[in-house]
Amino acid sequence: MRIPLLAGNWKMYKTVGEAEELVRALLEGVGTPTDREVLVCPPFTALYAAGRLLEGTPIALGGQDMYHEPQGAFTGAVSPLMLRDVGCTYVIIGHSERRQYFGDTDEMVNRKLHAALAHGLRPIMCVGESKPQRDAGQAEDIVVAQVRAGLKDVTATQMQQVVIAYEPIWAIGTGDTATPQDAQAMHATIRRVVSEHYGEETAQSLRIQYGGSVKPDNVDDLMAQPDLDGALVGGASLKAESFLRIVQFRS
Ligand code: PGA
Repeated sequence: MRIPLLAGNWKMYKTVGEAEELVRALLEGVGTPTDREVLVCPPFTALYAAGRLLEGTPIALGGQDMYHEPQGAFTGAVSPLMLRDVGCTYVIIGHSERRQYFGDTDEMVNRKLHAALAHGLRPIMCVGESKPQRDAGQAEDIVVAQVRAGLKDVTATQMQQVVIAYEPIWAIGTGDTATPQDAQAMHATIRRVVSEHYGEETAQSLRIQYGGSVKPDNVDDLMAQPDLDGALVGGASLKAESFLRIVQFRS
């Protein structure tokens, strides 16, 4: 039985005050869900303030990225230790915007994944193909390659901490969602690849989130698919009302 994980990726939005306001509103509406897990990933500057409000509540805190070293002369970087220190239990790794604008490679993703696991953070590893890749019929190959490279040398025991997010790049921030059927097909492929490498038990317990224009009006259909175990939500996580509706999906 996989507990769906509904995560808000706030990207480069929200000052400290705005983040606190959103966290308060989410806490007011979230209740005490037992059949789903809720996570927010504010920008670095708002993590500490958000973490203080979230302590002891049903909403978990995560970072949007990190560097793989615990500390050192790495100007501008944030470490897994620092994320833990402010209350994070999750971290997003290899988001397509990191890959596209900041040069994160599969090798860096793999290094970050190992660092997250070594420091007790649960990594959400993002994978997904671009529009030209999908149009060329390469979507599966691209995603499978990203999954394999990102998980290099990760053990079956460590896999219990890992979440994978399938986020087709053409669906991110575009309003252009993958159909539930297309998403399901890719999630099943990812689970098969994990099964081939780690065995069926590990694959069956792996949570695979879908991301890319998840909204209140499409979340129910997406979550009804058997291999979709939650959502990684950008735009629609920035307002309490829409994110709470997504959290309260009915399938
Ligand atoms: P979106 O972003 O929901 O705004 O499409 C999703 C993501 O990038 O994680």
